[in-house]
This record gives sequence, C-alpha cells and structure tokens, in this order.
Amino acid sequence: MLPPSGAQVPDIAPVNRDPWTAFADRQPEPSTHNAAGETTWFNWTQYPDHGPGVELLGKPGTVLDLGCGSGRNTAHLAVRGARAVGVDFSPVMLPRARERWGDVPGLSFVQREAVDFLKETDTLFDAIYSVRGAVWFTDPDVLLPLLRTRLAPHGLLVFSHEPPIEGCYGAQGTYVRRKNGGPPVPLVRWAHTPEQWREILVRHGFDRVDTEMVDAPDPAYVPTMLVRAAPSPN
Ligand SMILES: C[S@@+](CC[C@H](N)C(=O)[O-])C[C@H]1O[C@@H](n2cnc3c(N)ncnc32)[C@H](O)[C@@H]1O
Repeated sequence: MLPPSGAQVPDIAPVNRDPWTAFADRQPEPSTHNAAGETTWFNWTQYPDHGPGVELLGKPGTVLDLGCGSGRNTAHLAVRGARAVGVDFSPVMLPRARERWGDVPGLSFVQREAVDFLKETDTLFDAIYSVRGAVWFTDPDVLLPLLRTRLAPHGLLVFSHEPPIEGCYGAQGTYVRRKNGGPPVPLVRWAHTPEQWREILVRHGFDRVDTEMVDAPDPAYVPTMLVRAAPSPN
C-alpha cells in the first residue's frame, strides 16, 4: 500500500527551484575525463566510474534527460548519434551545460521545469531518462502521466536515485545549505521502494518494470536504485 503522494504538495516545483541553485553553487567543476580517458561517458550512480552505463537505454534516436545537471550524460548520447535534449531548471547548471557541450551536433539544452517542458513539447522520445534528477524530485502522479504521452510506443523510461530510508516513503522534505551561508532552502523529493515504483508505474500505464539495486563501490555506502519500464500497449 502506497502512502498518499501528491495531494498535500500540489505544485512543488517553485519550492524546489531555489535549493538546486544552492546545490549547483556548491558543485565542484565536473571532471573532464573518466578513468578510461574518455571525455564523455554515462553514469547512473553517485559514484564516479561505477555501475552500468548507456547500454541500459538501448540505441535511442531521440532521447530526453530530465534534470540533466552538467549535461555530460546527455552529451554522451548525442556523441553516439542520438538527438538528445537535456532539460534542467537550474539557472546555474543549465548555462554550464550549454557552455561545455553547446557545440555537440544533435544536442540541445532547455532551461525549463520538467513538468512544464513535458506539457509544451510535441516530440515523441524513444527514451526518457533521469539520473538522480527530476523524476526523483517531482510528484510521480503529476510527472508520469505527462511523461507517458511523450514516450514512443516502443520507448523506454529509465531512472536512478538513492533508495529510500526504511519506513520513509513518499514525499520527503529536507533543507539544503547555501554555499555562502544564509537561511537554508527547502527541498522535496519522492522516495519509493522498487515494489512501490512498480505499483506507481503500472498505475500510470507502464509495464515490464524492472528494478535493480547497484551497490556502492564500498558496500557500506548508499547504493543506487535503477528502474526501467516500458509503456504498456494502449
Ligand atoms: C542531483 S542533480 C543530478 C544532475 C545530473 N542528472 C547528474 O547525474 O549529474 C539533480 C538535477 O535535477 C534538476 N532538477 C530537479 N528537479 C527538477 C525539475 N522539476 N525540473 C527540471 N530540473 C530539475 C536540478 O536542477 C539538478 O540539476
């Protein structure tokens, strides 16, 4: 049985914008190369050079990254030949992504809130993914119905986030500290177990839900949960 999700927090996006600016301000410069010496690569986890890679997305022709941050994952897909769109509402991260990857053919970045972007776009994507991004920080009952309409019938949804702490499910609030002091800013995210995600996704028209827990390099640290689902036939 799932806890109630969206009812108490109908439009959280404005609340969630500020903490991401605070978060982005504290981010170090992204690495320019991975351990294999590559300049673009794909990482689903919070640990460098760890876990599965871009193969989880198959070979999409069109692909959407929800909450793309610095844009490196999105750039990696464009370099492999996809038409890739990275969406992020951060006024810090999105310009950084454009500056770093703006000249990669087939790649575009849109500074937009994920729900707003999905309402406005008319593109059908072969794959939509989110690496510890907007899917984690948006009410699934609001995001998934829209996302479902922008996913091609043969498409794939894949996302990752840290698993919930046992007993703490649904909408969770926390405070993010600012780099240079000042009052902390609230942030809300939605934490669900693999079983809860399965139920939510099926409710919103997905099937073939597949989940995986990727251990941290040191298993004492927090693992990463990966969820894959496909749209069910209409
Ligand atoms: C933890 S960072 C991950 C960034 C990137 N996916 C990565 O793996 O490096 C989360 C990102 O999601 C973005 N984000 C969170 N909620 C969002 C929303 N509702 N719409 C658009 N972007 C969002 C934040 O601005 C931030 O850049």
